[in-house]
Amino acid sequence: MNQGILIAFEGIDGTGKSTQLPQLAAYLRSLGLEVIETREPTTGVYGQEIRSLFQNRQRVTRERELELFLLDRRQHVEECILPALVQGKIVLTDRYYFSTAAYQGAAGCDPAEIFVRNSFAPEPDLVLLLVMSADESIARIRDLRGETLNDFEQRDQLEKVAALFASFPHGCIVRIPAARPMMEVQSSIREAVLQLLENKGVECAG
Ligand code: TMP
Repeated sequence: MNQGILIAFEGIDGTGKSTQLPQLAAYLRSLGLEVIETREPTTGVYGQEIRSLFQNRQRVTRERELELFLLDRRQHVEECILPALVQGKIVLTDRYYFSTAAYQGAAGCDPAEIFVRNSFAPEPDLVLLLVMSADESIARIRDLRGETLNDFEQRDQLEKVAALFASFPHGCIVRIPAARPMMEVQSSIREAVLQLLENKGVECAG
């Protein structure tokens, strides 16, 4: 039923998802394609509650934290992702359910169960998994952004998250080495996306 294409950017914090996604969006628009840029956690009611947890994760139980990400995603899928896909658009989302399996999995929930609980969410056509070591990502967060680590970004946590991302076997995942100059990463991303568009028979201008 969906005519559109869903592409998720995934990876640990500091890998450059939020820089790479708008660049890909601009490139796809230059090819005459209709693109929606979106992200999780969203700016909706559950997304706001999640963001308020960033500096103090202990405020809610692990199960409640997982539940909040699922509620936020349900709203995101119903109000943003599905309507755009039905209209034939390309949806680029900065994080999706692989983040829940990796982050809440690292926090002690069962990743397999998390995937099952996300079965309401459409499977992406492509997951661009930006890969970088926890050390590199932490250096970037500290040096480039000048930020301290929030509760979701502690080192041992990030190492577990990276290991879980590395373990996911899904065929829709393309792994992109991300500790490289920004334009090199972008060109690997474009290559993977152009391959997908070709496989789907999408016609591009130019
Ligand atoms: P970001 O806006 O910098 O990507 O931050 C979102 C944080 O939330 C990031 O540390 C990852 C975390 N997160 C989860 O733990 N589970 C999820 O399902 C999602 C979407 C994000």
